[in-house]
Order: sequence, then structure tokens, then C-alpha cells
Amino acid sequence: MVIKPRLKGGLALTNHPIGAKEFVKRQIDYVKSQDKYEGPKKVLIIGSSSGYGLATRISLAFGAGAETIGVAFEKGVEGKRVGSAGWWNTIAFNEAAEKEGLVSKNFIGDAFSMEMKDDVIKFIKEEFGGKIDLLIYSLASAVRTDPIDGVTYRSALKSTTKDITGPTINFEKEVMEETTMGVATPDEIKSTVKVMGGEDWKLWIEALDKGGVLSEGFKTVAYSYLGPKVTYGIYKEGTIGAAKRDLEHTSDVLNDFLKEKYNGEAYVSLSKALMTKASAVIPIFPLYAALLYKVMKEKGIHEGTIEQKHRLLTQMVYGNNPVIDEERRLRPDNWEMREDVQAEVEALWDKVTPDNFKEISDYAGAREEFMQLNGFDFDNVDYDADVDLDELAKLKP
Ligand code: NAI
Ligand code: NA
Repeated sequence: MVIKPRLKGGLALTNHPIGAKEFVKRQIDYVKSQDKYEGPKKVLIIGSSSGYGLATRISLAFGAGAETIGVAFEKGVEGKRVGSAGWWNTIAFNEAAEKEGLVSKNFIGDAFSMEMKDDVIKFIKEEFGGKIDLLIYSLASAVRTDPIDGVTYRSALKSTTKDITGPTINFEKEVMEETTMGVATPDEIKSTVKVMGGEDWKLWIEALDKGGVLSEGFKTVAYSYLGPKVTYGIYKEGTIGAAKRDLEHTSDVLNDFLKEKYNGEAYVSLSKALMTKASAVIPIFPLYAALLYKVMKEKGIHEGTIEQKHRLLTQMVYGNNPVIDEERRLRPDNWEMREDVQAEVEALWDKVTPDNFKEISDYAGAREEFMQLNGFDFDNVDYDADVDLDELAKLKP
């Protein structure tokens, strides 16, 4: 079978398993080109198969020699369906880790469930040396079933103030178009906090603590985003911002608890805007990202997923140069938020039109990044070659 890209707005309907291997390999190559660092030895990553969670896992394994457990929600081959990008990323990660003798274990299923927590804890106790040093919380999800009351909540990407209309990029049609984000009902705000807030992170820490699998000095970091003025309406002041504030509050609660019992730490880290499966579907965000890339690349300070996470880990979480704000948040988004960067992004934002967006933004770069998340647009992958789906179907993460 020959696999071609098919898009629907900001969603990729297909992905390329051989391209996924290249996607993972390039991130590994980056980490190997950098100095090794002293980091955690045993790590659990929730949301390990793509985006920031995957990059974190790659940095920790190939940069610090960590043994990793990954939890992700992904699908394998079903009939003529090729499976999800995160499925192939995970298989590619495993293959590369195994070659270097790095232990990696995967749990594919619902991180929000109690069963998943129990399974992971059992594995840590029986086959992973009994304890973990670090938990990274990098979930992006649209739905969560609360394991305590059994109610299923759906997140809504909406405003909490007023209807917000603004430009975005449609990668499928390759056009800049107006999009409107409606106002959330109180129920939708609550549901988004239920899905993307801190409740599940806290349930994980409580379960791991009860299971006796947290080491002395244990750390946990959850990923969040804040963003600049041009995205406040859709992000900071949107439903997702409400959820992220809940996550930040949870980090304080967890930090107090961990400090007391394990001499440990809990942080939220605010990351740089990037194209990932999750961010590509946020209205307005892709255009902001394309303009930001233009400015950051010109200034020589652009980072992709792997560079951003590698800097967070080597400089901040396990290094001596943490950038922490007055709300105790780690700020690897500090280059994105620089005044000169944002002033130039704002100037471009005022100038950008459907006719000039491909020239004045880094549209090509943002689109390439989006395509590569799904294994496409690598110059050294042959996309006309037949992919043997039956053979691939035998591989499991
Ligand atoms: P992503 O979509 O690439 O990754 C999400 C991960 O969550 C995947 O591994 C997926 O399998 C997993 N997942 C989703 N539902 C699950 C479930 N029920 N059970 C188990 N695993 C599940 O997203 P991305 O962008 O890497 O986002 C991760 C975190 O980083 C989010 O908290 C996001 O807000 C944050 N972030 C993203 C930024 C961006 O520009 N993309 C910027 C700053 C923060
Ligand atoms: Na992730």
C-alpha cells in the first residue's frame, strides 16, 4: 500500500509509519549531538507518544540514559487503516532504545482510568526496580471519564469572555481564513477543567504514593502553555486557560505534599508554541505559530519540540539555570515571550492577510513541521514505495 497524506483542516487522517521512524530518529540524533547529562534513572511519562511527551522521553533516554515507561492512547493497524502516528512513533522509539540497551516499556490505553494506574504501579514494583524518580505529565485529550463517578467529560476549545473572530491557517486548503471561537457555557468550562486540569495528575501521584513507588527526591512536571497577548482570547482567557490554571494550582498542592514526604518537587512548565497534533486544531494558534517561527528563526532562537524539551531538562529540571517566575512556573517559553520577539510578531500580526501570509510568516516551516508529525515531508523517505501493512501489523509498541 502506498500511503499519501490526507488532511481535514488541522487534522491528519493518514500518517506514514516509515516517516515516523525518521521523525523519531532525527530527535534522537539531536540529543546524541549534545552532551550527556546527569538526570533521573527511572521515568514515567504520561502522554509519551507524540509532541512534547515524546521529545521528553527521547531526551531523557538518549541524553541521560533513563529507563522509561510510556503511557499513551494510540491505535494500531485495523484492516486498511494504518494506525495512529503515536503508535508508530512509539514503535520507532522502542526499536532505537532497544539497540542501545535502554529499557522502555509502553502501556497503550486510557491514562485517566484507575486500571491503568494499577497496571503501571504493578509493573514498577515487579519489573522496574520498585521506584520512579520522575513523572512527566504531557497529556492532551478531548475527553475524560472520571474514574470516581464514571461521568464522561468533553473539553471544549472555547472563549470564556466573548465570541472571538480571528485568522488562522487551514493546512488542508493552504489558506488563511477567519475562524470564530464561541463562548463556553459554565458547564463547558467545568468539563474542560475536568479533562485538562490537574485532577488526574493528582490522582496519579496519590496512587503512586500509596503504591510506595516514589523515590526520595522524586520530581514531577506537568506541561502547560500561557502565550502572548495575541492569543490571550483563545488561550489564557479561554476554557483551556481555565484548565491550565487548575493544573498550576495542583502543582502547588503536589509540591507541598512531595516536599514534606520525599524531599521532592512538583512544577508546571510553560512551553513554547509549536505545531503538534493538539495545537494544530486550536483556532488562530497555527497562524500565530507560523509568524512566531519567522521571527524566532530570523533571530536564531527558534526551537523545535526536541530542542525545547532538552533545554528544559538539561538547564532547568536537572540543571543549574532554571528560569522560574513569581508563580513558581518553569519558563522554557522565555525566548518566545521576549519583548523584542513579541513586538515583531505583533507587527506581523497587524500586517498579515490571506494574500501575503505565505510570504510574511514561516508558513512553509510550520506546515512542514505539521506534516512531519505525521511522518510526511521528509526528503529522505520514499513516499511512492509500497508499505507492507500486514508486516507492520505484527509490530506492537
Ligand atoms: P500531543 O497531542 O502531541 O500529545 C498528547 C499525548 O497524550 C499523546 O501521547 C497521546 O497519546 C496522549 N493521550 C491523549 N489522551 C490520552 C489518554 N486518555 N490516555 C493516555 N494517553 C493519552 O500534544 P502536545 O502538544 O505534546 O501536548 C502535551 C502537553 O503539552 C499539553 O499539556 C499541552 O497543553 C502542552 N503544551 C503544548 C504546546 C504546543 O504548542 N503544542 C505548548 C505548550 C504546552
Ligand atoms: Na505529548
